[in-house]
Amino acid sequence: SIDDRVADLLSRMALEEKVGQMMQLDASGDLDGAVLHQHIGSILHTSPERIIRAQELTAQTRLRIPLLVGEDCIHGHSFWEGATIFPTQLGMAASWDPDLLERVARATAVEVAATGVHWTFSPVVCIARDLRWGRVGETFGEDPYLIGELASAMVRGYQGKGLSDETAILATAKHFAGYSETQGGRDASEADISRRKLRSWFLPPFERVAREGCRTFMLGYQTIDGVPVTVNDWLLTDVLRGEWGYTGTLITDWDNVGRMVWEQRLQPDYAHAAAAAVKAGNDLVMTTPRFFDGALEAIRTGLLEEQDLDAAVARILRLKFELGLFENPRRPDSARIQAAIGTVEHTELNLEAARRSIVLLRNQNNTLPLAGGLTADATGRGIDAGTGRRRIAVVGPLADDAQTHLGDWAGGSGQASWLHRQPRELITTVLDGLRAHAPTDWTITYAQGADILGLAEDPEGAFFPDGQPRPPVVVASSPDEKMIADAVADAERADYIVAVVGDRIELVGETRSTATLDLLGGQVALLDALASTGKPVIVILLASKPLVLPASALEAAGLIWAANPGMQGGRAIAELLLGLIEPAGRLPISFPRHVGQQPVYYNQIRGQHGNRYADLTQVPAFSFGEGLSYAWVGYEALTLDEDQLTAASTLRATLTVRNHGGRPVRETVQAYISDTVTSASWADQELKTFTQVDLEPGETRHVRIEIPAAELTIVAPDGRRVVEPGEFELRVGRSSREQDQLRRGFTISRE
Ligand code: IFM
Repeated sequence: SIDDRVADLLSRMALEEKVGQMMQLDASGDLDGAVLHQHIGSILHTSPERIIRAQELTAQTRLRIPLLVGEDCIHGHSFWEGATIFPTQLGMAASWDPDLLERVARATAVEVAATGVHWTFSPVVCIARDLRWGRVGETFGEDPYLIGELASAMVRGYQGKGLSDETAILATAKHFAGYSETQGGRDASEADISRRKLRSWFLPPFERVAREGCRTFMLGYQTIDGVPVTVNDWLLTDVLRGEWGYTGTLITDWDNVGRMVWEQRLQPDYAHAAAAAVKAGNDLVMTTPRFFDGALEAIRTGLLEEQDLDAAVARILRLKFELGLFENPRRPDSARIQAAIGTVEHTELNLEAARRSIVLLRNQNNTLPLAGGLTADATGRGIDAGTGRRRIAVVGPLADDAQTHLGDWAGGSGQASWLHRQPRELITTVLDGLRAHAPTDWTITYAQGADILGLAEDPEGAFFPDGQPRPPVVVASSPDEKMIADAVADAERADYIVAVVGDRIELVGETRSTATLDLLGGQVALLDALASTGKPVIVILLASKPLVLPASALEAAGLIWAANPGMQGGRAIAELLLGLIEPAGRLPISFPRHVGQQPVYYNQIRGQHGNRYADLTQVPAFSFGEGLSYAWVGYEALTLDEDQLTAASTLRATLTVRNHGGRPVRETVQAYISDTVTSASWADQELKTFTQVDLEPGETRHVRIEIPAAELTIVAPDGRRVVEPGEFELRVGRSSREQDQLRRGFTISRE
C-alpha cells in the first residue's frame, strides 16, 4: 500500500534528504546543486528543458525520489506559448456557474499536465473586500458561499478522476487565510482579523474546498495578531488539521520562512526560522534556499529533532506516490503537448467562458444590442437585416491592448517583464472582434484616444536595499489633447461609440496594489469628451477589478464590465454588442462610487446610525449580484412550503420567473437569508443558494429553492457556529438589492 511505501522510503532517508524533500526552489538557481546536494523535493516557475534536466538529475540520486513540479496556472497555463488563457478568476466568477469552472479547470489540467507540471497554485479562495488590493482579479469576489462553490468546482476539475490519472494535477487552496484583508489594501501587510471574524467569513470557503478534497493549501504572506500565518498554530493545527481533519499538504508562499528573518525580523536566524516553520506543520517551503542549512543547524543545536521532519516528508512522499511519479515522473511529452495545448475544444470552451463572464450594467433605452440585434451567418458574422450601413467608432487605450485582455499570470509567471509571450494572433481584442463579427458593410474606425500610464524616474534609485531590481514607478499619464481630438473626430461621424477603458497589467497583481481606483491617465477626459458628442457611447470596462467610474461612464448609453476576458474576450464582447449572444453575467463583487467608500461589499454587519459618511452615500454604484439581460425577467409568487421549521428541517420555497421580453435569457435566481435577531453582530443577509434558469421569450418557469435549516448559522460570540432559533427572512431575486427581491418570513423553533 502507499502507506507501506511511504514508511519504507522514509526509514531509508538520511537527514539531508528529508530536509531537501521539504524544499521547493524556482528556476533562477543552480539546478544541479539543488537536486544533487540539497536533494530538493520540488521546483516551480520552470521550463520543459529544466524539468527534463531535473528529472535526469533525480535519477542519479541515491533514492531517486521524483520531483514535484508546480506552477501558477490560475486561468490557463501561465508559461506555455499557445496555451488557452481563459478569463481571470473574477471574470469567470461572473458566470455564477460551477459546472463551467469545473470544465475550465479540467481543460487547464489537460494542458498543464502534458507539459510536465503536476501542480497548480489555484484556486484563490480569498475574499476580496478592499478593492485597492492588487490581487482582487485573482479571486472569485466578495461572497464566501459563491467563492466556496466556484473554488470547489475548480478543485474537482484540476484533480479530475484521481491523482493517478495522467491528466490530473494537484489543486491548491490559497492563500490560507485572511490574506486579502491587509492594511490599506496593500499586499502582504498585516491582516488583523479576529478569530470570530475569520470563522464568520474567511474560513468557510477554505473549509468547503478542504472537504472537496483539495490536496494542497498555500499559506499567505500576512501576519495575524502578530504571528505570520506560516507559523500560526491555531490556524494550521487547531483549525485546519484538527477541526477540519485536513490531511493534505501545506506549502508556504514565496520565501515566507526566510522573510521571518530578513524582512519581518521575527526570527534571529534561519535555524530558528526553519524550526518554527517545521513545528507549525509546514510541509513544503517555497523558495527559501537557506532552509537547508537552517534546518540542519536547528537539528545540530537541538531546536528540532530529526523526527520532527517525518510527518511533513511523509505527506510529500505520499503525494508523489499517489501521482504515480515513482513509476512515471510525467516527462514533458511533445506528442501530448501537441495534442493538448490550445485545442479547438479548449478554444470553444474559452469562448463560452468569455461569453459567460461579461456583465451588462447599463442599457439606456435598449441601446444594446446595436441596431436592435443581428443574426449571424455561418461564419459567425452579423447580418444586418435592412437597417443599412452603420459606423462604429471604437475608441480607447484598451480596445486593441492584447495583454490587458489576458490579465495577470498569462504570459510567464505574472511578471510584467515576461509579458507578451502569447502570440498576438491567438488573442481577439474588442477591436478585432468587431472587425470580424460586424456586418461587412459596417465601418469600424479606431482611435486610441488616451494613454493610461507613463513611467517616472525612480527617485530612490534602480534597486531595492537588498539588491533586487526595483520596478519602474508607475504614474498616470496626462490627457493628450491631440489624441482626444482625433478620437472625437471619429466619434462625431459614427452611429455608435464603443469606448474601451480600464486598468493595465502594471496596476494588477502581487505587490501591485493601487491607492486609487480611478480610471487613470487620459481616460476620464476621453470619456467626458465622447459624452459631449451626444452620440450613444457604450463603455466597455476591461478592468481587473471594480473601479470608480466617472458620470460619463455611469450615465453612458451602455456599460459593460468584462474583467480580463481572456483570449476569446474580444470576440465574446463583440457578439454581445451585436446581439449574437445574450448577456448573462452577474456581479460577484460590488462596484464602489468612491475609493473612500472601501469596503463596499454587500454583506457587511449591521451597524449603528453613525456607520456612514457625512459626504458620501454608502450605497455602491453596482451591488453584488447585479447584471442585466436583453429582456426583463419578472419575479412573482414566492411561497414557502412551510413557514415554521426546526433546525433539522429544510426551507423549501417556490417562485415564478417570467421572461417579459422578446429575447432568450439565462437568469441567475439568487436566494439570500436574513436572520432577524442574532446574538452577535451579523450581516443583514447572506447568499445561501442560487440557480440558473433559461427562459425563452414569454416563457414562465417555476423555480424551487431548498436550503437546509442547519445552514442558517451565525458565529456566536464564543466562536461557535450555531443556528439561533427565531425569525428569519428568505429573500429571492435578481440581485442583493432590496428592490430586486421578494421576501417571506419564517421561523426556526428550538425543537
Ligand atoms: O502562487 C504564488 C502566490 O500566489 C504568490 N506568491 C508567489 C507564489 C508562486 O508563484
